[in-house]
Amino acid sequence: MIILLTGGTGYIGSHTAIAAIAAGHQVVLYDNLSNSHAQVIEKMHTITHQKIPFVQGDVLNTELLYKTLVEYKIDAVIHLAGLKSVKDSSEYPINYYHNNVSGTISLLQAMSRAGVKKLVFSSSATVYGEPQYLPYDENHPTTPINVYGRTKLQIEEVLRDLVDSDSTWRILALRYFNPVGAHASGLIGENPQGIPNNLMPYVAQVAAKELPILHIFGDDYATKDGTGERDYIHVMDLAEGHTAAIDYLINHEGFRCINLGTGSAFSVLDLVKSFEHVLGSKIPYQISPRRHGDLPKYFADASLAHELLNWKAHRSLLDMCHTTWIFKKNSKKGS
Ligand code: WQD
Repeated sequence: MIILLTGGTGYIGSHTAIAAIAAGHQVVLYDNLSNSHAQVIEKMHTITHQKIPFVQGDVLNTELLYKTLVEYKIDAVIHLAGLKSVKDSSEYPINYYHNNVSGTISLLQAMSRAGVKKLVFSSSATVYGEPQYLPYDENHPTTPINVYGRTKLQIEEVLRDLVDSDSTWRILALRYFNPVGAHASGLIGENPQGIPNNLMPYVAQVAAKELPILHIFGDDYATKDGTGERDYIHVMDLAEGHTAAIDYLINHEGFRCINLGTGSAFSVLDLVKSFEHVLGSKIPYQISPRRHGDLPKYFADASLAHELLNWKAHRSLLDMCHTTWIFKKNSKKGS
């Protein structure tokens, strides 16, 4: 199939494009480059040995989206474009609702006009909020505790209503846990602008001596070692989950939400120790106050993805750290 990837030059988008091409699909990248660099496209050419069409545009530009869908004869869309900082979403809610919710509605309008009705949407485990039980399964109540999570939940509800109104739409919302790691080549990876909010890229910058020390936000949680526990999933496992979702849409109608996680939780200290093993030296850290809004622990019941998509994450925490470090070293060399 010919797949349009909105947010296609981003961290998840670039890896998903690689996985889709490896699965035999053609992809077209659509991105406004607000949180990524056009240079990543050259890296993708090197990995896939093929030129990948790229359209620079914003998902709020409905007309350009429509023209792109028609010009490239798109069969399905993987919608990854959106703002994703939990911290920033609380500071700039209108920006988040506009980009994430209005941006998705703009995409749906363009798809409807072009007659493209297969969609995989990048949702998030943050839609669940305070765990009432763990692991989270897809029936867990959805009570997001931040604006970012609320934008994702509202979009899920728009998608559900759309499918209920017109059964010719086929849509999956994939609820990501914590994507980390990089493609094995080390040519693409997570390259946040500024000081990272997330743990793995922050650890990588400490390892590269770009930052002096890791601040661990609290070691007094009711977890195995007191530090926060998360379901870290290798970005290439996550990417392959998207191609499995596309395959599912070919033969299944309706709307479903599906967790993409490993089903295991690792603590901050687990991740630090794993990274030290890769590095062969210690990562300096200090215990700091808890971060507002952090949950102690959450992880996925990933059985539905296995049942419906025949997909299961299989890459290890060590591989997540190892590929992160390979990419970091390549980036430092400016390769
Ligand atoms: C993980 C753990 C922190 C940084 C995720 C991702 C992102 C977004 C929201 C996208 C926590 C601890 C972190 C640091 C630390 N969703 N930590 N020092 O909080 O699970 O949020 O969901 O769909 O995926 O942001 O991820 O990497 O920020 O934190 O101690 O410098 O690491 O307290 O326990 P989080 P994270």
